[in-house]
Amino acid sequence: MIIFLLFKHLFSLRLITMFFLLHFIVLINVKDFALTQASMITPSCQKGYFPCGNLTKCLPRAFHCDGEDDCGNGADEENCGDTSGWATIFGTVHGNANSVALTQKCFLKQYPQCCDCKETELECVNGDLKSVPMISNNVTLLSLKKNKIHSLPDKVFIKYTKLKKIFLQRNCIRHISRKAFFGLYNLQILYLNHNRITTLRPGIFKDLHQLTWLILDDNPITRISQRLFTGLNSLFFLSMVNNYLEALPKQMCAQMPQLNWVDLEGNRIKYLTNSTFLSCNSLTVLFLPRNQIGFVPEKTFSSLKNLGELDLSGNMIMELSPHLFKDLKLLQKLNLSSNPLMYLHKNQFESLKQLQSLDLERIEIPNINTRMFQPMKNLSHMC
Ligand SMILES: *[C@@H]1O[C@H](CO)[C@@H](O)[C@H](O)[C@H]1NC(C)=O
Ligand SMILES: *[C@@H]1O[C@H](CO)[C@@H](O)[C@H](O)[C@H]1NC(C)=O
Ligand SMILES: *[C@@H]1O[C@H](CO)[C@@H](O)[C@H](O)[C@H]1NC(C)=O
Ligand SMILES: *[C@@H]1O[C@H](CO)[C@@H](O)[C@H](O)[C@H]1NC(C)=O
Ligand SMILES: *[C@@H]1O[C@H](CO)[C@@H](O)[C@H](O)[C@H]1NC(C)=O
Repeated sequence: MIIFLLFKHLFSLRLITMFFLLHFIVLINVKDFALTQASMITPSCQKGYFPCGNLTKCLPRAFHCDGEDDCGNGADEENCGDTSGWATIFGTVHGNANSVALTQKCFLKQYPQCCDCKETELECVNGDLKSVPMISNNVTLLSLKKNKIHSLPDKVFIKYTKLKKIFLQRNCIRHISRKAFFGLYNLQILYLNHNRITTLRPGIFKDLHQLTWLILDDNPITRISQRLFTGLNSLFFLSMVNNYLEALPKQMCAQMPQLNWVDLEGNRIKYLTNSTFLSCNSLTVLFLPRNQIGFVPEKTFSSLKNLGELDLSGNMIMELSPHLFKDLKLLQKLNLSSNPLMYLHKNQFESLKQLQSLDLERIEIPNINTRMFQPMKNLSHMC
């Protein structure tokens, strides 16, 4: 329940600084109001955290599907399919997941010696594997983290139709055939981060109707098309941090109606259009920091009625159109820090009635004006 308003290094003129300090007192009133009158509203989730169904509670990513109801409403254990997973796989010291590994039986008949099997889950971590090994058909979780896999050929998982989670991070995967993931109708979680993937062909995810998490961080992917996401009807979380994307598909969410959280930090995205997020009705968190976005058209965010957090920090935005944030009625957190903004319109933040955190650090704006903070000021008048 904290109001951030970060204006460090903002003004050189002492007079204006004084003015701002006065304004800050008003903001403290806003905070008091928030504590007493709006105690249901809490800040939206920080980086590395995910929302428990909605934005009222956040948990570290590793708590998702660890077999414990960490959210209190079961949201972190939804779409998991079974009661084990993340804690064991990531070695997180949490719950009692660490004590089970050696005591459980293995129900798989065939698997490489280097792997650890528990019931129908198989971990082959750091095993020098150069390809996806032969395993019994009834495997439900397959972790091939930190191996030496270079490519995923056609239908490489086709026999493993019960798979719910695949972990392929930290290999040397460069080539993925268009039919590599065919038949994975029950897959919910797919990790492909820290590989050498440059392209993903349209249709590659077409059977993954149950997929909720797709992690593609730290790959040199340069382009994605709208058709790449065909089939991802259930996708909730898409992460493509530190790739080489220069543009986004014409309509990013057209094939992903459930998309809730998108993290595109650290790409080379140069522009957004007024159709990029047109069908992203479910989006609650949109991270675009450390890109090269220069211009954001007026209607870019107008369909994001459920957006709770927007991060545009570290881009090249020089001007914001006056009504850019007009439809973001539920926005709680906005980060515009480290942009070469020259000007803020006087009604720039007017519609952001729910805003709790506004970061304008490392911005040099000559025309600062009280009216910009109208929504917060309004709140302080109410208490
Ligand atoms: C958020 O989730 C909590 C717990 O499930 C629920 O009580 C609350 O009504 C939800 N809020 C919204 C805005 O959906
Ligand atoms: C898995 O398949 C093997 C045959 O490959 C079978 O013996 C075993 O009972 C199966 N386990 C489960 C849990 O279905
Ligand atoms: C989107 O932008 C284009 C120009 O880039 C414009 O012609 C069109 O009217 C805009 N659409 C909406 C809905 O604002
Ligand atoms: C805003 O973004 C910057 C740079 O990405 C980050 O350092 C800062 O912590 C963010 N501010 C808030 C309030 O989250
Ligand atoms: C303050 O907000 C309330 C509710 O959102 C609205 O009814 C009222 O007109 C606003 N007052 C001002 C001065 O903007």
